[in-house]
Amino acid sequence: MAELKPSVIVIFGASGDLAHIKIFPALYSLWEEDFLPDNFFIVGFSRTKFDDGAFRKTIFDSLNVNCRKSPIGEDEFSNFSKHVFYLTSKYDDDYSYKELGRFIESKAKEYNMSKNVAYYLSTPPSIYISVIDGINNAKLVSNEYKGDGFSRIVIEKPFGYDYESARELNGKILSVFKEEEVYRIDHYLGKETVQNILAFRFANAIFEPIWNNKYIDHIQISALESIGVGFRAGYFDKAGVIRDMMQNHMMQLLSLVAIEPPPVPDADDLRNEKVKLLKSVRSLSLNDIKNYTVRGQYDRGVVGNKDVLSYKEEEGVPPDTITETYVAIKLFIDNYRWAGVPFYLRSGKRLKTHKTEIAIYFKKLPYSLFAKVGIENIRQNSIIITIQPNEGIAINFGAKAPGFKFDIEPVNMVFKYKSSFKLSPPDAYERLIYDVITGDQTLFARYDDMLIAWQLITSIINGWAKTERPSFPNYEAGSYGPKEADGLISADGRAWNNE
Ligand SMILES: NC(=O)c1ccc[n+]([C@@H]2O[C@H](COP(=O)([O-])OP(=O)(O)OC[C@H]3O[C@@H](n4cnc5c(N)ncnc54)[C@H](OP(=O)(O)O)[C@@H]3O)[C@@H](O)[C@H]2O)c1
Repeated sequence: MAELKPSVIVIFGASGDLAHIKIFPALYSLWEEDFLPDNFFIVGFSRTKFDDGAFRKTIFDSLNVNCRKSPIGEDEFSNFSKHVFYLTSKYDDDYSYKELGRFIESKAKEYNMSKNVAYYLSTPPSIYISVIDGINNAKLVSNEYKGDGFSRIVIEKPFGYDYESARELNGKILSVFKEEEVYRIDHYLGKETVQNILAFRFANAIFEPIWNNKYIDHIQISALESIGVGFRAGYFDKAGVIRDMMQNHMMQLLSLVAIEPPPVPDADDLRNEKVKLLKSVRSLSLNDIKNYTVRGQYDRGVVGNKDVLSYKEEEGVPPDTITETYVAIKLFIDNYRWAGVPFYLRSGKRLKTHKTEIAIYFKKLPYSLFAKVGIENIRQNSIIITIQPNEGIAINFGAKAPGFKFDIEPVNMVFKYKSSFKLSPPDAYERLIYDVITGDQTLFARYDDMLIAWQLITSIINGWAKTERPSFPNYEAGSYGPKEADGLISADGRAWNNE
């Protein structure tokens, strides 16, 4: 088991949603399962006025809604919450950071521990630079190599707005922290099912030999949501699906399903392979952007028997918005393994179903024995890796249907996490926060894989600015997206997996 050094976790933006919905529930579950060091404390840093007691009360209330350990009794909570403190602070005020420094110093003395600090930026991205400057000016970054405690920085997505802004933010962070101290969160990587892609591919002898262009026809990666923009309209309308999903989650899934096996499954080797893979993704010309990408925005419709508004009508969305709520892209990876295999990526909101999956379709039989007895169109074999919900893997193959007649029907061999392991996977944030404390960067984006992904996505955004935009809205809420997205894949004689 990894070493759990006494640690301090400072959460900037601690009054916010992410802290309450994800970060504190993860910290509580880790604490309850003994995955936090014996000596640790958490400091909330944000502007809203709270004393420790009032802040702890907000955490207690939200744990009982959002934590997988709920219901949580007051006694159990008070054992946890004695480690939680709050400083009412300002993000652009050096004095607040000096106070933070003094607080950490005095508490570390009281706890008799070294100052191992993880700074978690859970504010809107517009505040990141102020926080990094504040940490730097107050000299809150220690030098681990001189025997001080560690200093680590955890940054939430979105990391930048486009290639240039991501590069600038990265430069700023690296002027204060070393790359091995930087933890860029893509919470998809903390999901058990995403990590299982590597186990599935590289811990089994039967799949890897057929994981290439000789046997695989095409791969679909889908992240479909039935929910709309919810309370995140302010953020989402500036980002759109291309930044919110494609640049990070979808590129990470693409990398994991397509990378070469790393020499060692550690942070550096794994991320080196990702960089190699992303560098092999063929860049898109303006013509490719016209032909290989589709954008959409939802209109009114019916989702789960409920009438829902169009995107433009959602609360907080400007009525003249041109932000896309759906994107489909066809990509090619120019390397020996994948030459000629199309990767179809799609993600959108207010769709008919909620699912994230990778569907691997194998080539059709080179010769069909059963065509001679009138059985045509035997379905292609496929492997469906479901990331969420109903986490698992299904292998689809043809089987003889029972009876005197010789018929072949598709059947599924299914593995489900819940039934096989009899437990639900921990939340991604638990795994990621644990890795920050133990210093394992394997499941975090490195500066180069993040920037290469931004290069591709920025080229698409720039290409869209030069090409005619479809008239929005162009798909009905509760459908599978714009008809042009069906056209993108059907033009190649294929279809999306909408099962
Ligand atoms: N929520 C999610 O589901 C989710 C998912 C993935 C990633 N993220 C990312 O995680 C980060 C935090 O998300 P969040 O949903 O917790 O954000 P949030 O609730 O909007 O903001 C967190 C806190 O930051 C402070 N803040 C908000 N707007 C500010 C402004 N304009 N100027 C200064 N301070 C401001 C507020 O605290 P004070 O006013 O008390 O200072 C707020 O409570 C964001 O970068 C977001 O993109 C969120």
